[in-house]
Amino acid sequence: MNAYSILKSAHSGWAYLVVTVLVLATLNALIGFFSKKEFGNRDFSLALGGLIVTHIQLLLGLALWALSPYSNMLFSNFSFLMTPEGRGARLLALEHPLTMIIATTILTIGYSKHKKKITSNGKLKMLSIFYTIALVLVLSRLPWSQWFAM
Ligand code: HEM
Repeated sequence: MNAYSILKSAHSGWAYLVVTVLVLATLNALIGFFSKKEFGNRDFSLALGGLIVTHIQLLLGLALWALSPYSNMLFSNFSFLMTPEGRGARLLALEHPLTMIIATTILTIGYSKHKKKITSNGKLKMLSIFYTIALVLVLSRLPWSQWFAM
């Protein structure tokens, strides 16, 4: 096993945790916001947990990107990536990494904004908006077929 395959397995396995915790944190914030609940320890832990697991995945993803043959194609075979046949490779080399970086940034902004709010509803509103946008972005650009083909 080389560094690339170790990182690929780690990134692939950790993705289950990222998607699960993000779905839970987002649903929890939305339910709390719409039912006007008090912001408690569970809400805080889920929001922080989502942030931590996503940041770890970001680091794994950046290292994987540096070693992946797909990202290498950005420099060696860019014109192929822009063709309809290069769609799958373009997702892995460009669209997935860029979208996940944007999603992680939005998640981080949401987490930091919720901390600055004083009321429970204000905190849950910030988490609902930013975590929902981040989750939709993550789900929209996951390489689903490659992931489940493992
Ligand atoms: C933050 C949430 C992220 C999630 C949930 C996620 C999830 C995944 C999944 C499920 C795969 C398919 C793995 C497989 O083949 O089984 C994958 C592949 C990949 N990811 Fe991510 N990823 C994330 C972030 C990132 C970031 C930030 C980068 C780079 C900056 C990145 C770079 C890559 C690359 C290059 C591949 C393709 C690796 C290869 O097959 O050579 N990912 N990701």
